[in-house]
Amino acid sequence: MRLLVTGGAGFIGSNFVQHRLGSRPEDEVVVLDKMTYAGRRENLDGLPADRFSLVEADICDPEAVRRALDGCDAIVNFAAESHVDRSIEAPGEFITTDVYGTYVLLEAAREAGIRHLQISTDEVYGSIDEGSFTEVSSLDPSSPYAASKAGGDLVVSAFKQTYGADSLIVRASNNYGPQQHPEKLIPLVILNAIHGDPIPVYGDGMQVRNWLFVRDFCTAIETVLERGQAGQVYNVGGPDELPNIEVVRRILDLAGRDESLISYVEDRLGHDVRYSLASEKTEGLGWKAAVSFDQGIERTFNWYRENREWWETLRSGEYREYYLRQYGTELAGPAS
Ligand code: NAD
Ligand code: DAU
Repeated sequence: MRLLVTGGAGFIGSNFVQHRLGSRPEDEVVVLDKMTYAGRRENLDGLPADRFSLVEADICDPEAVRRALDGCDAIVNFAAESHVDRSIEAPGEFITTDVYGTYVLLEAAREAGIRHLQISTDEVYGSIDEGSFTEVSSLDPSSPYAASKAGGDLVVSAFKQTYGADSLIVRASNNYGPQQHPEKLIPLVILNAIHGDPIPVYGDGMQVRNWLFVRDFCTAIETVLERGQAGQVYNVGGPDELPNIEVVRRILDLAGRDESLISYVEDRLGHDVRYSLASEKTEGLGWKAAVSFDQGIERTFNWYRENREWWETLRSGEYREYYLRQYGTELAGPAS
């Protein structure tokens, strides 16, 4: 297959491209990415040049999408504005990319008569106190990010319903692993712990997330791409649910730091208390998560410790300004 992977220079997209080119030696991948602050060329270093290419373009640009799609057999769409806190600060770009951009890709896939797999999130269901969301749970998004992803999902479903398009959706819980931008909880805590910077915990830190190691999500995406049915939604949840404060404590242990670094800060607006996904439908296609949180967090911590060059430039650029706006404090300590 030749795949168009949109948003493939970001965290999950780049892990998926690395996985796919390894697991399918005959496959080719074209990444189309706008290279926002979240897109990084380094994430795609070392891929086989005869089977991989990168196009810098916006998914909202129909001509660029059509050109990149030439000869492709499917689109896997990771492209999105993906950070909840940034969506609270400035929602506009989220609506544009996550809803309109998805529509542009769907039109191009429909014209070409190929499959469109939409990468979506458990956040479209909102928060759940007990039990787990299934694929038929109603949509009740809380943040502008979650609402924009829900909007994108509805356009995907409408294209199947109205035009018979070969479009389908996979919804995942919180991913973590190598190459995740430090604006997100786990890499933020790892890097702050390494540097001895305070660790901002929103509210009481008792919000629960359903952690999924990114490589497990990549195998789930591959399974749904190859075996999923058009018009269907597939949930992919991680094997472990933990309150944020417990995640922070595990990372502090790995870093050999004590809890004095924890700093409870003002809560996120509209903060969802708990996410939990039932994954039986995806497991019915033959997928199963293989990496527990204990295993995955150690692998992730070691990756950040050993790949200083990957994050050193990030901590000195746009992220530093964002951090000051978001937390009201400068990233302090030098790397130790
Ligand atoms: P990310 O922010 O790391 O990467 C997003 C990528 O999309 C970046 O490379 C960025 O440059 C690119 N992009 C943004 N706007 C674009 C545009 N208009 N045109 C082309 N490219 C554009 O995000 P991620 O964490 O890798 O998430 C990938 C996808 O998975 C998103 O759709 C997100 O909603 C979804 N998702 C993420 C998680 C998670 O825990 N990270 C969980 C469930 C679902
Ligand atoms: O659930 C899937 C979603 O997971 C994806 O759709 C999103 O793209 C992804 O960003 C992620 O969203 P979250 O908001 O759950 O992830 P984040 O890492 O921002 O926050 C995880 C939890 O940690 C959440 O309860 C908020 C809390 N948190 C986060 C940050 C950045 C803190 O307490 N302090 C922080 O500084």
